[in-house]
Amino acid sequence: MSIAGNGVVTHTILGCQRARKTRPVLLLGPLTRIHPLHFQHTLRIPTDPQLHTRHQHLQTTVQPCAQSTSTMSLPVGGRRDVPLEEARAALQTHFSTYQGAKYAEGWDHLWSKGDFLPWDRGNPSPALTDTLSNHTDVIGHAMIEEDGKTRRKRALVPGCGRGVDVLLLQSFGYDAIGLEYATNALKACEEYLKDHEKDYPLKDEKVGKGSARFVQGDFYADEWLEKVGLDKDTKFDLIYDYTFFCAMQPPMRSAWAKRMSQLLRPDPQANLVCLEFPTNKPAQAGGPPFASPPKAYLEHLSHPGEEVKYDAEGNVMMNPLAPSSPGGLERVGHWHPADTHQIGKDTEGNVQDWISVWRHR
Ligand SMILES: C[S@@+](CC[C@H](N)C(=O)[O-])C[C@H]1O[C@@H](n2cnc3c(N)ncnc32)[C@H](O)[C@@H]1O
Repeated sequence: MSIAGNGVVTHTILGCQRARKTRPVLLLGPLTRIHPLHFQHTLRIPTDPQLHTRHQHLQTTVQPCAQSTSTMSLPVGGRRDVPLEEARAALQTHFSTYQGAKYAEGWDHLWSKGDFLPWDRGNPSPALTDTLSNHTDVIGHAMIEEDGKTRRKRALVPGCGRGVDVLLLQSFGYDAIGLEYATNALKACEEYLKDHEKDYPLKDEKVGKGSARFVQGDFYADEWLEKVGLDKDTKFDLIYDYTFFCAMQPPMRSAWAKRMSQLLRPDPQANLVCLEFPTNKPAQAGGPPFASPPKAYLEHLSHPGEEVKYDAEGNVMMNPLAPSSPGGLERVGHWHPADTHQIGKDTEGNVQDWISVWRHR
């Protein structure tokens, strides 16, 4: 892996490419759960990917969350075993000075200091491993047939952090790109790979390994696509969102959904996979991570770029009678993963996270 002058980090291992036909199966997931959330604003949501930068006046309520005594572990770098409430309160305090257009800078600052990265688990999402291994009936495999040829699926992990999920996708045979706003996160990816490449062995000899590339850029802009030699209209066959949606301030969610819709290939074999987290956090507790119950994903992805109403307590207001909007994605699978990071479980070890899978209609 290397960092090129244009800010692109590349690590590519090519393996045998044998065709595998995928047969997508549509699953209609259960409807969402309602949570007793509390919030103080009705949020106005920007309708354009760039608009979040113009909403600096929108500030979410910041209050420490005191719902758990568990810890956020930092297995790779930084302070270890910071109590959850302490870590979340510190994150909120930090981001209170990085609102609106400056928000992504706040993440960059944390990565450049490198001693407080409470979301960073240092190993791939067990829920993604479960999805790639046990839910191929929904998401297919790493290879795809297009115009009579077999090729690897192109995968994207926006806000990839240390890059662990990118390396996992590579080991399953995907050509994966990790996108990060923070330059120092990309350096962390490079460091991590030096010591941990052996932790990502080839999953299937017949499929071979794909490639892993890391690029600096803003999810809401196009420049990063060109940095990795892709056309600005490039679409992806698989997008994995892990703690990226919940990292966005609620007024940015409309733009998040529109961008996801733009980047996902309009094809029945192309899937946006979201690890829904945190599903039980009261909205009034603020963020990041901001409360992200399944209905938040459902409303925003059904109406990308449009205003989604929130009640005075900060709950997403569902409108099941509203027809899907242009570019709206359809949820084709929804399940609790067999395993997830500890932070996504309750005190008895029950998985609280959901996996949702979305496609163009
Ligand atoms: C909560 S962290 C999650 C990181 C990683 N997914 C993980 O689980 O370890 C959110 C990440 O999104 C990145 N990020 C925030 N805004 C971004 C943007 N507009 N474009 C690209 N990356 C962004 C941050 O730098 C941060 O590393």
